[in-house]
Amino acid sequence: MKTVFTSVVLVLTLTFISLSWSEEATYRRHIKPLFDAKCIGCHGQDAAPEYYAFKEEKDMWLSKGQGMRMDTYSHLVFYTAWPDTGALMRRLDDGKTTGKAGNMYQYLGSTEEERQQNLKLFKDWVGNWTLKRWKDITKEELDGIKVKY
Ligand code: HEC
Repeated sequence: MKTVFTSVVLVLTLTFISLSWSEEATYRRHIKPLFDAKCIGCHGQDAAPEYYAFKEEKDMWLSKGQGMRMDTYSHLVFYTAWPDTGALMRRLDDGKTTGKAGNMYQYLGSTEEERQQNLKLFKDWVGNWTLKRWKDITKEELDGIKVKY
């Protein structure tokens, strides 16, 4: 019994140390694997159009259940700071402060626990989790958006 207890304490301690020492969230380590698991089916390269092409023929793409392309670092950051400011955050937000979750939040996981975990990864990666649009955002707020590669 004592050894079990000691092992549990050891595992918890190591987990805590590795979490607090882990480096900042990056696209390559944290976001790409998550995106590939949860989002690529509708936002992937094979079928997904560029944002502006999507907008031009929105109904056609929607009828196919297809979203716009976001499956590279360059594509995804388009939806953070500029030009589609705050889009990723508005869509993935859990609605805890606004009262209404973004419509992509559901895809973050199959349980609430998983969705919250993955939302945290996105939040760590983005930095300043602002829901503001380009016309409302300040330079300081933009500066807080990190999105490390
Ligand atoms: C089942 C298909 C599907 C999945 C899975 C999906 N999306 Fe979407 N997504 C769409 C469609 C279709 C649209 C366009 C319609 C709309 O605006 O809601 C969209 C729109 C978006 C937008 C809005 C872009 C804009 O400003 O117009 C963002 C951001 C987004 N998705 C992010 C994600 C992320 C991140 C994931 C993974 C966690 C994800 N989506 C998973 C289908 C999907």
